[in-house]
Amino acid sequence: MSEVVDNKEMDEILQKYGYEKSCIIPILQETQAKYRYLPKEAFSYLSENLGISTAKIYSIATFYENFSLEQKGKYVIKICDGTACHVRKSIPILERLKSQLGLTEAKVTTDDLMFTIETVSCLGACGLAPVLTVNDQVYPAMTPDKAQELLMRLKEEE
Ligand code: FES
Repeated sequence: MSEVVDNKEMDEILQKYGYEKSCIIPILQETQAKYRYLPKEAFSYLSENLGISTAKIYSIATFYENFSLEQKGKYVIKICDGTACHVRKSIPILERLKSQLGLTEAKVTTDDLMFTIETVSCLGACGLAPVLTVNDQVYPAMTPDKAQELLMRLKEEE
């Protein structure tokens, strides 16, 4: 077991679901909630304790797009680029945030693991476009300047 994944924390999750292999999806969801992604070390621990192959767990984790195998930042910022947000200029917001954080299309998480930038196709709040979320809190009617100010506030809180 690596330093990334804590046996005790994993046991708590497994106990909650009675070590039931049919609960693999909620178990993976809780694992992701704890670590903000699915560390590969967790797969072998779950495999040993649930009697499911790591290949099977991996295929489940990659099938559902809400699971992430990549480590994410403390603040996950999702910029909506659905139609309503796109026509109200969501891309300049995305570009501003990426340039402020030194991120690119290939590099979406800062080295200090503070920020991850993602785009989503619709956050279900089109009337408030353009919208972004920070760890699921919705910020409506954004502009590049407002997004930059929000970023400054988050940095100051640290
Ligand atoms: S298109 Fe952005 S919230 Fe729907």
